[in-house]
Amino acid sequence: MNPTFTLRVLSKSDVQQAVSMARAIEIVKGAFAQLSAGKAVVPIRTQLPVDRHQGVTLFMPAYLSESDDLGVKIVSVFPRNLERDMPTIFALVVVVEADTGRPIAAMDGTYLTALRTGAASGAATDLLARPDAHVAAIFGAGAQGRTQLEAVCQVRDIRRAWVFDVNAEAAARYAEEMRGRGGRVPADIRVARSPAEAVREADVICTATTSTSPVFADGDLRPGVHINAIGAFTPQMQEIPADTVRRARVVVGSREACWAEAGDLIIPRDQGLISEEHIYAELGEIAAGVKVGRASADEVTLFKSVGNAVQDVSVAREVLVQAERLGLGVEVAL
Ligand SMILES: NC(=O)c1ccc[n+]([C@@H]2O[C@H](COP(=O)([O-])OP(=O)(O)OC[C@H]3O[C@@H](n4cnc5c(N)ncnc54)[C@H](O)[C@@H]3O)[C@@H](O)[C@H]2O)c1
Repeated sequence: MNPTFTLRVLSKSDVQQAVSMARAIEIVKGAFAQLSAGKAVVPIRTQLPVDRHQGVTLFMPAYLSESDDLGVKIVSVFPRNLERDMPTIFALVVVVEADTGRPIAAMDGTYLTALRTGAASGAATDLLARPDAHVAAIFGAGAQGRTQLEAVCQVRDIRRAWVFDVNAEAAARYAEEMRGRGGRVPADIRVARSPAEAVREADVICTATTSTSPVFADGDLRPGVHINAIGAFTPQMQEIPADTVRRARVVVGSREACWAEAGDLIIPRDQGLISEEHIYAELGEIAAGVKVGRASADEVTLFKSVGNAVQDVSVAREVLVQAERLGLGVEVAL
């Protein structure tokens, strides 16, 4: 018996080198398909309030039985860190070997979260947006907004993107940075002066804000638009107008998680505008071919996700596989 067990520790840059957005999209499709087929164990995340420091730490475990991926993400949101000039969000993912229960890797979860959240929207856009979608609009010029655009560009021929943020400086920085991103991200990135201007010609919209109220007006949308809504993650938060939710074909990451946490759906349900049957499908049902995606060129499709640990754990396992192949990270003897 070998008495020395090692843990591979991977930095943000290791994670970035290990898995591309295109690969993450494929992995996340497979993870959602397992979730919807009952082949994943995913408790609703534990939110541990740390009232003394006005923070909250979330514990997000998952086991995917088909791909045999096991692990947990720990993510902290501590807004008072701003006073110390520190990030408000920290995240770590631990990968556990499924056949022995041995922890085998610990990696930065901040970029991994942006990667897997972008990948879910990439998967949804691939399965639901019109094939001829060429213009994107991004609400929220933060960390998620960046990978949202990258993911959408991965699956559609996006030629122009609009960005809107209530913080005009953040939007300008975003546009400047994303113009030079390269790959499939176009150089034509424009800052919108209003939500209406952002959505006017958009075929795909991503909302990735911290807003608690709708970020655009339903009447400003184009027919046939596809929307990825990933910002609101509590019953009180809302990014999407109730009228849009009501007329859209709604697809979610997980029905259970959305009815527990997604204000975008809970608020219109509580107002009597939609019933729980209004959710047409989980993304995994469409990824697995159990249900079809878009039914007509003119319908509005909406993907709502509050984030799911199957995304973290499946992508983290792929990061580890690639890190071992490429020799990334540091091995620590436990
Ligand atoms: N669903 C998921 O899987 C998932 C994963 C990670 C983060 N999130 C959530 O996504 C949101 C964005 O995360 P982030 O890390 O990019 O945050 P961030 O703080 O880096 O960026 C959010 C941006 O949204 C902007 N904003 C706020 N209200 C707006 C509005 N009404 N219109 C336009 N812009 C507005 C802010 O000015 C800010 O620039 C957060 O609520 C976060 O909790 C969801």
